[in-house]
Amino acid sequence: MLRTHTCGELRIDDLNKKVTLSGWVQRIRDKGALIWIDLRDRYGITQVFLEEGKSDESLVKQVRELGREFVIQVEGNVIERASKNPNIPTGDIEVVPYRIEILNTSKIPPFTIEDETDGGEELRMKYRYLDLRRKPVRTKLELRHRLALETRKYLDSQQFIEIETPVLIKSTPEGARDYVVPSRMSPGQFYALPQSPQTFKQLLMVSGYDRYYQIVKCFRDEDLRADRQPEFTQIDCEMSFVDQDDVLQAFEGMTRHLFKVVKDVEVGDFPRISYQDAMKYYGSDKPDIRFEMKFVELNDVAQGKGFKVFDNAELVVGICAKGCASYSRKDLDKLTDFLKKPQVGAKGLVYVKINEDGSLKSSVDKFYSEEDLKEWAEKCNAKAGDLLLILAGETDATRFAMNELRLEMGKRLNLRDRSVFKPLWVVDFPLLEWDEETQRYYAMHHPFTSPKTEDLNKLEDEPGSVRANAYDLVINGVEIGGGSIRIHNKDLQKKMFKVLGFTGEEAQNQFGFLMNAFEYGAPPHGGIALGFDRLVALFGGSDSIRDYIAFPKNNAGRDVMIDSPSVVSEEQLEELGLKIVNPKSQASS
Ligand code: AMO
Repeated sequence: MLRTHTCGELRIDDLNKKVTLSGWVQRIRDKGALIWIDLRDRYGITQVFLEEGKSDESLVKQVRELGREFVIQVEGNVIERASKNPNIPTGDIEVVPYRIEILNTSKIPPFTIEDETDGGEELRMKYRYLDLRRKPVRTKLELRHRLALETRKYLDSQQFIEIETPVLIKSTPEGARDYVVPSRMSPGQFYALPQSPQTFKQLLMVSGYDRYYQIVKCFRDEDLRADRQPEFTQIDCEMSFVDQDDVLQAFEGMTRHLFKVVKDVEVGDFPRISYQDAMKYYGSDKPDIRFEMKFVELNDVAQGKGFKVFDNAELVVGICAKGCASYSRKDLDKLTDFLKKPQVGAKGLVYVKINEDGSLKSSVDKFYSEEDLKEWAEKCNAKAGDLLLILAGETDATRFAMNELRLEMGKRLNLRDRSVFKPLWVVDFPLLEWDEETQRYYAMHHPFTSPKTEDLNKLEDEPGSVRANAYDLVINGVEIGGGSIRIHNKDLQKKMFKVLGFTGEEAQNQFGFLMNAFEYGAPPHGGIALGFDRLVALFGGSDSIRDYIAFPKNNAGRDVMIDSPSVVSEEQLEELGLKIVNPKSQASS
C-alpha cells in the first residue's frame, strides 16, 4: 500500500497509529539534532520528525540526502507535537518515521513551491505543472470544479439535459475569427472550431430536447485581454417555449443558487436596465452598479454661456464624486492625465468643487457664475464636500471616457468591494451595429437573435433602430453572460441574413441546415451562455481568468509550456494538401 492516509488527514485522534504517507518534500528544517520534513500532497501538509540519537542513524542519513520536491513514502508512528501549529489542520501531530523510501527524485524547481513564490509569471507558465502544485493555484481550480459541479446539479434539477455538440464544425458567426482545422480527407477544405455551439443548441430545440445545457469549450481567434482566452468555457443553455422573462428567471435562479452554495452569499435583486439607459447613465453596456455615481447630462444648463468647449459639444456630462472637494491641484492633474491616456482619449477635464463652507470653485469660473455652478451641483445632487467631474465632446467618445473616469473614481473611493456582488440584466440591445469600415450592418449579438415584434416593421428601412430580444448578465461590471430569444421562422431568418448583407445563396450555403430545420416544426426558443472562466474568476475575486484555467495561454495566445503553436513537418502539410507560402517565416517562427 503506497499510503494509508493523505497528508491532510491525521488528527490528534490518530495518536499512536502506524501510518504510511506519500507525498512531496515541501521543506526540510535541519537543526542538527532535530530534523523536520514538511510532507505535502493535494490534501495538506504533515510534519515528519526525526531526532538524532533516537531515530535510526541510516534514516537520518537518508533524510539528509533528500531535496525539495522529492517524492517519498514515509512509514511511521503518529505522535503529539511538542509545539503545535494551530494554522494547519494536522498541526497537533507529527509522524516519527521508521522507514522512508524515495519514490522519485527531483531537480531543484526553478521557483519555490510556496504560497508566495519567487517565480515570475513567464517562468511559472513554462513550468505550469509545478505552479499547479502551489496551494493558491490549486484552490482556484478547486473552486472551478465546485462551480461546475453545482451548475450541473442545479441545471439537472431544472430538467436541463447535458448534450455534447461537435468540435469540428463549420464557421458560426459570433463576431470573432474562427480557428480552422485542415481536413486530410477533403484537401483544401477546413473545419472550424466552434466559437460557441449556437446553431447546434438551436437544432436540439428543433429536435424537441426542450432544455439543453453544456459546459463547453469555445474557440475564438481575437485579441486577448485579462478576461479573454482563445479557448474558454461556457455554461451554454437553450430552452424551448420560453420568452425573455422565462430565460432571465431561470438564470437568475442558477446564479443565486451558485452564490448561495459556493460562497454563502445571498445576492439581492437582479435589476434590469435597457441598453440605451446603460449607455446614458453609465456609458457602458456592462455597468458596475456596486456604486452610484450615475452620469448627469448637463447640456441644458452648461451650454450657451460662451464656453466654446461645452457649446460645441454634442454631450456635456458630469458625475459627482462624494467627499472629493478636498482634491488638490495635483490630484486633479493626475485625473486629467488618466483621462488623456490614449486608451481613454478625453481632451480635458472640468471640475467644480462644492466646498464645505458652501462656496463653489471650478476650473471654468471665467465663464460661469456661482449661480450657474449651483444649478449644475443641484442637477448632480452634489452636497457640500463633493466634487463634480465634467467631460464634453462627441457623445460616444465622451460616454466612453466618462465610464473610465467613473470606474477609476469608484476604485479610488473603494466603492468596488470584491466581497459585494451586484448582478444586473442589460436588456433591449440594438439588433444591429453599423460598421463604418466595411459599410454594413453586423448582428450585435448573432444573426439568430430575434428582433422585438414591435420593431419588426423597421427592419428594412431603419435597421439601426430595431431592438433585439437580447440580454446580458452583468455582475460587478463584468459581462458574465449573453443570450437572446431566437428567430424560429425561416422567412424571418432569411430576411435577417439579407439585412446582414448575405446573398440568398451565401445564406443557404452557410446556414441552409438551420433554415431547413426551421421548416420542420421549430418551437419558439431562446437561451444564454455564461462565460464560465469569468464566473469562476468573479467568485475567486480576480479580474484575470488565466489563473482559473489549468493550462492557459499567454497574451500572445501561446502555450509556453508545450510551446504551441508550432511548426509541423513538411510531410504533415503535404498530407493535408497545404503549401507553405513563405518557408522562411515557417522555419523561423
Ligand atoms: P457571447 O458571445 O456573448 O454569446 O458569449 C457568452 C459569454 O462567454 C464569455 N466569453 C469569453 N470568455 C473568455 N474568453 C473569451 N474570449 C470569451 N468570449 C466570450 C463572456 C460572454 O458573455 N452563443 C451565444 C450565447 C447565446 O446567444 O445563447 C454566445 O456565445 O462571458
